[in-house]
Amino acid sequence: MKRIAVLTSGGDAPGMNAAIRAVVRSAIYNQMEVFGVMQGFEGLIEGQIKPMSLGSVADIIHRGGTILQTSRSSRFMTEPGRREALEQLERRGITGLVVLGGNGSLRGAWEFSKLGTKVVGIPATIDNDIVYTRSIGFDTAVNTALDAINHIRDTATSHGRVFIIEVMGHNCGEIALAAGVAGGAESILIPEIEVDFDQIVNKINQGTARGKLHSIIIVAEGVYPVLELKERIEEATGQDTRVTILGHIQRGGTPTAADRILGSCMGKAAVDALVSGKGNVMIASREGGVHSIPLQEVIKGRKTPELGMFDLARVLSI
Ligand code: F6P
Repeated sequence: MKRIAVLTSGGDAPGMNAAIRAVVRSAIYNQMEVFGVMQGFEGLIEGQIKPMSLGSVADIIHRGGTILQTSRSSRFMTEPGRREALEQLERRGITGLVVLGGNGSLRGAWEFSKLGTKVVGIPATIDNDIVYTRSIGFDTAVNTALDAINHIRDTATSHGRVFIIEVMGHNCGEIALAAGVAGGAESILIPEIEVDFDQIVNKINQGTARGKLHSIIIVAEGVYPVLELKERIEEATGQDTRVTILGHIQRGGTPTAADRILGSCMGKAAVDALVSGKGNVMIASREGGVHSIPLQEVIKGRKTPELGMFDLARVLSI
């Protein structure tokens, strides 16, 4: 394989740039020509493909977002769209593609691989909802959420308030659980566990009775309408309650060391896979090392967070 390309797709994630850098530099190290595709699968269809050099990835390891930009492409979900994308690669003699993104992007990668290109996926999404691996961006997003929780805790204590903080996660409770445990939340609401409103109220009331100065409730997006939850809590407890939706703040910012290292390892491993003739795999990280698993296995699976974390938060927040 002499020519490969790299693209980022779906929601951006801090650490994507470290992975792009690793792909480009590992490819050049292996005497390959490497191309960057702008704006994900949409840019691939449009032929927005540019040669990358050692210098094009200089000074990016510490930057959030993605220098290649990203998109959610509905055209790529169709076979004609994918055929147009294939033509763009064939025209340039590119036979391998590295795709960084979340579940939707990896599904796109799998569909695309059926047309003959060797595709290697890299899990990159703050949601950490991809099976068999940790995802690039999760650690930074959790730390960003945690920083916000710390700030809110100060004002919550000063005013003696209940705070509801909504975090992202896209149908998965990973961010909520990690930020909730690390932030010492009283209650954590995640899609994987049925909401117990009475338990939330009891926690607040018991806390108040023994002199707690605030209560923090972390809600994964989509689990419960947070403004309605505020109304119900105020009615049931009589306590002044505020809502903060963290939103896209969790997607940006300087990647943590963990995300930079993960991105670097996975980017190199993706190129190594292509060098050894592998395709249609995803690079996965578990217990310290990286390895590759078939893309087909990845898109079939649904991730369940470590629910022991939920129990941990429940016990420690008495
Ligand atoms: O998948 C990452 C994510 O940030 C989810 O947590 C969230 O549901 C979604 O993307 C938001 O997407 P958009 O940036 O299109 O609003």
